[in-house]
Amino acid sequence: MKSKKRIAILTGGGDCPGLNAVIRAIAKKAIGEKGMEVVGIEDGYDGLIANRHRKLEYDDVSGILTSGGTILGTSKKANPYRYAIRKGKKLEFKDMSKTAVRNIKRLKVSCLVCIGGDGSLGIAHQLFTDGVPIVGVPKTIDNDIRGTDITFGFNSAVQIATDGVDRLHSTAQSHHRIMIVEVMGHNAGWIALHSGVAGGGDIILIPEIPYNIGVIAEKVKERNKKGRRFSIVVVSEGAKPKGGDIVIRRIVEESADPVRLGGIGFVLGDQIEKATGLETRTVVMGHLQRGGCPTPFDRVLATRLGTKAVDMIENGEFGYMVGVKNNSLVNVSLDKVAGGARTVPPNHPLIRSACSIGTCFGCR
Ligand code: F6P
Repeated sequence: MKSKKRIAILTGGGDCPGLNAVIRAIAKKAIGEKGMEVVGIEDGYDGLIANRHRKLEYDDVSGILTSGGTILGTSKKANPYRYAIRKGKKLEFKDMSKTAVRNIKRLKVSCLVCIGGDGSLGIAHQLFTDGVPIVGVPKTIDNDIRGTDITFGFNSAVQIATDGVDRLHSTAQSHHRIMIVEVMGHNAGWIALHSGVAGGGDIILIPEIPYNIGVIAEKVKERNKKGRRFSIVVVSEGAKPKGGDIVIRRIVEESADPVRLGGIGFVLGDQIEKATGLETRTVVMGHLQRGGCPTPFDRVLATRLGTKAVDMIENGEFGYMVGVKNNSLVNVSLDKVAGGARTVPPNHPLIRSACSIGTCFGCR
């Protein structure tokens, strides 16, 4: 009897709403329609190195469409090519890629599906060049992966951040305050731009457009003069002043991407208070943006991407990620994805629209 085709799935990097929806789509199609076997690697590349995995049955992925997080677990630190090992107080880095490749071979799978952001997909590209048949699926709330117009998780994060901005309007108005909402996004301003526009933010600050505190203060004062005695500022965690630096919350040495951003909202709050004399408060949306159930948009997107990934496996289209271009699904070579983050072009049409209705981006 011919043995069944087996595939493995792993989720790497930071979690985001929609991961379970994509695992469900891949596994249901692979098992139900294609008669394949599916293995889930636990905790991303950490589990691949440590050989931690389990078989996924159809029932294991039933009922997870709407749940947040990933049933497989994930890791933001494990990089098989630079694996951190703690020896007392010291950290040592070891190349464990041969172990990872060997473990995949032992599983006798015809493909490893890597669901990840730019970091995890960069590692997937290296594994592919080392002989592992890979199909990539892009995920991240940051929406910053090259080769795709959109990633699942982004719409859910924007929904949560916008809800925060909406709720802050009334308290800002009641107390005649400036409310700053710091959102995630890493070095890309997509979440700030979209939640800022959707929530009617008066000032939106993104990493791609360094801000001038004088311009922000002027905007706030001008609003006050017109009787609008409050302002809402949506700031991306990666935003920085012209000629200044990003605010780093912590360095995670073990991580492939060690810099964790955060805190710009408080720095900016002090700067605005000093420049305007007006009471300013800061709210950090933080990991709330990554939690909870995915929006219908993200569930649909995850289902489309997951089912397409199985088609790619069947066709032997390895070394590619499934991406979205003009709402169609396309194959994107993983080496393109590994080339860095997709940031917001400063002349993006949405920035132009927002400027045309008076939104301030902190520059002239
Ligand atoms: O990449 C997703 C993301 O949530 C970024 O927006 C943020 O900068 C980072 O991860 C936070 O990382 P951690 O999970 O280590 O706090």
